[in-house]
Amino acid sequence: MLMKELANLLNIAIEKIKNTNTVIQVVSHLDADGVSAAAIISSVLYQLKKDFQVTFVKMIKPEIADTINEREPKLTIFTDVGSGYIDVLKKIKSDIIILDHHEVEGTPSDNMIHINPLDFDLELSGAGITYLLAKEALKNNTLAPIAVVGTIGDVSYSADLKIFENPFIEIERGLNLFGRYTRPLYKSLEYSGIPGINSSSKALQFMSEIGIETQKNGDWVTLSDLDNDEKKRLTDAIIREGLKSKSFKADSLFSNNLTLKSFQEELRDPKEFATILNACANMNEPATGLALCLGSEKALKEARGVLRGYRRLIGNYMRWVESNPDSIKKTEKADYLIADDNINENLIGTIVSMLFKPKEKTLFGFANAEDGIKISVRSKSFDVQKVVTEAAKICNGRGGGHEFAAGATIPLEEKDKFIEKCESMIK
Ligand code: C5P
Ligand code: ZN
Repeated sequence: MLMKELANLLNIAIEKIKNTNTVIQVVSHLDADGVSAAAIISSVLYQLKKDFQVTFVKMIKPEIADTINEREPKLTIFTDVGSGYIDVLKKIKSDIIILDHHEVEGTPSDNMIHINPLDFDLELSGAGITYLLAKEALKNNTLAPIAVVGTIGDVSYSADLKIFENPFIEIERGLNLFGRYTRPLYKSLEYSGIPGINSSSKALQFMSEIGIETQKNGDWVTLSDLDNDEKKRLTDAIIREGLKSKSFKADSLFSNNLTLKSFQEELRDPKEFATILNACANMNEPATGLALCLGSEKALKEARGVLRGYRRLIGNYMRWVESNPDSIKKTEKADYLIADDNINENLIGTIVSMLFKPKEKTLFGFANAEDGIKISVRSKSFDVQKVVTEAAKICNGRGGGHEFAAGATIPLEEKDKFIEKCESMIK
């Protein structure tokens, strides 16, 4: 029944799109999921021969209503953003379609078609719910690979990918090593968590002992370069090596690896693709990410450059945190990383995600932003979306997100009060 209601809602939105013959405004979230969602809706609009303009936003600010109203559209579509900011969107004069999976705040008005998988007990990303509309509108599933990338790239990712089944997506049980296409195999092995091969030299020696070349034609060999026989030899040897350690769990070394057959090179691995999209979004180059999703080969070269810059920046920030342990204030329930101007507001979420240890305390990160303080939170112990949204409201700011990953922006002078409010709510 629920699915039927969802299908009805999607079809109402599709009719609205089909009946709009002026430029449609698309506003999407500036992150990997949002870029994927934007690519999916762009493809739909293009195939339905609609004119459209895409804007990316890190978060919904009150000014968005004026910006959209100045463009005088008849229809605005929000993807992967909007559900948490319904009151702000009410100031937009056009009809609105919201395809989002963030926690809902407020009641949609009559000019809004609000479609959120949480209302249907479905766990889907922003790209995922946008894909359901695409599938219904185009009556085919060709955009599923992009939905998979967005889902894997999203901060709230835990969703089942079954819903995206598609002949262009191959699933194979295999070694769970990151960087199948781009990382030298010895590096992937070094980071695989097996004590016997946990350094470059040990990993290189391990490969040569089992007769797998480390380089071919001057390039480092990656996991994707191996033939089936080599993959089998490698797997057997890894298990043998792993069993020497008491804590070894063979299961954790294997996963269902997806291959996107309609994409080239490293984009065939949705994890690597999602990493690239994340870099494009956080480095404020969403157009490059969008072009990648839509199949531009030229964009890949650009995206690789963006990724290199992104990694360099992250490396610098991680080193800064390491050498400034006093920047983390600790309480009984949470840690608060106060980065001030030392970490860019667009990257504080990534840094908090990287530092966060799910079995330990909730982690908050604070970075100075253009208009206040950007806060990012990751947790596994309580609903941070509720806490952060409430605390931000009390402190004249705004927040939102998901149960275990949320964020907010508050005025500069409200930092201590915000922490105090969070602490008392957590208790
Ligand atoms: O920016 P960060 O990755 O920390 O955001 C975590 C989650 O919180 C994201 O889903 C983001 O959309 C949401 N968020 C929000 N409002 C903000 C900041 C973040 O809804 N002001
Ligand atoms: Zn999302």
